[in-house]
Amino acid sequence: MPKGRTTFSKFIIEEELRASQPDPHLTALLNDIQTACKFIALAVARGGLNASEAVATTTNVQGEEQKALDVIANDIMLAQCEQGGTLCGMASEEMDEPYPIQAEHRRGRYLLAFDPLDGSSNLDVNVTVGTIFSILRAPDGVCDPTVEHFLQPGTQQIAAGFALYGPCSMIVITLGSGVHGFTLDREIGAYTLTHPSMRIPEHTREFAINASNERFWEPPVRHYVAECIQGREGVRGEDFNMRWVASMVAEVFRILVRGGLFMYPRDTKDLGKPGRLRLLYEANPMSMIVEQAGGAATTGRERLLDIAPAALHQRVPVILGSKSEVERLIGYHQAYDRGEDLAFDAPLFNARTMFR
Ligand code: F6P
Ligand code: MN
Repeated sequence: MPKGRTTFSKFIIEEELRASQPDPHLTALLNDIQTACKFIALAVARGGLNASEAVATTTNVQGEEQKALDVIANDIMLAQCEQGGTLCGMASEEMDEPYPIQAEHRRGRYLLAFDPLDGSSNLDVNVTVGTIFSILRAPDGVCDPTVEHFLQPGTQQIAAGFALYGPCSMIVITLGSGVHGFTLDREIGAYTLTHPSMRIPEHTREFAINASNERFWEPPVRHYVAECIQGREGVRGEDFNMRWVASMVAEVFRILVRGGLFMYPRDTKDLGKPGRLRLLYEANPMSMIVEQAGGAATTGRERLLDIAPAALHQRVPVILGSKSEVERLIGYHQAYDRGEDLAFDAPLFNARTMFR
């Protein structure tokens, strides 16, 4: 039996003891989140055994409504986190408006924003999904938060993390000093520290983007991807590998372990949407984790964590991962915005430039 393993519970207690301003409410909230994630992991792992739940909201033969797994995950997060007296409000991808803590529960000083089941379009094909969460402090004196109270830049996050429901169930977390990964040991029912102090490798040659959107990308992104595809014959002088899981949690975990770049950039597919991913409960928590692991996260033009949110479900372009690759992309955006044309050889189109 392994001795002296650090469980998630032990880790967050030790973090509280080490903090200059210890806050048992933060520890209690993190504990509620880990419990919620265990319940969600269980529901996800049943997969086809609760087939109708896994596909969509349906009505069963008794006329009862059966819920889609993302709705189940949302309900688990709400129920588990609202009773602890640590929160005064929650916001979720599944709910148009902030969720008020029910009157029978005590109110706390934190706000929780979450994506209950990221990558849920992958559920029917049994690919890794996850829960993403971001913890903010409610402004002083606020007990009944409204949308405006959630509209804080990512730099204000107290903690951020995500759970993975894949071959292993995991939680990855940052409290603002490093990134730590825990694997669920089902025999003892505890998330256990398996990936302490994660650092994104700087030198890697992998990128992730939904290439079917290529015709909608901006020139700097096309330019970057074309150079990667050229491999050792091109300016990069090395062969690249491409990955696309279509589950942000899985992509970010891969980047934490192996490095590389993840992009869901600005595109022209739908001009009403400046990006696909949501700022408050996808981009911000993932950006905090990536930065804390030594990487970088940008829209291409602005550090994601610096954005002042304008709406609860705001979408943003996301480019994150190994720092040098992110910086290269920022440089290409700057050159493009300055009107500088950069020549490159696109394998499909021969010699061309950013503008042509
Ligand atoms: O939550 C949005 C999301 O599912 C991400 O997890 C993932 O990166 C992306 O959408 C997948 O997008 P697409 O369907 O374009 O591949
Ligand atoms: Mn999502």
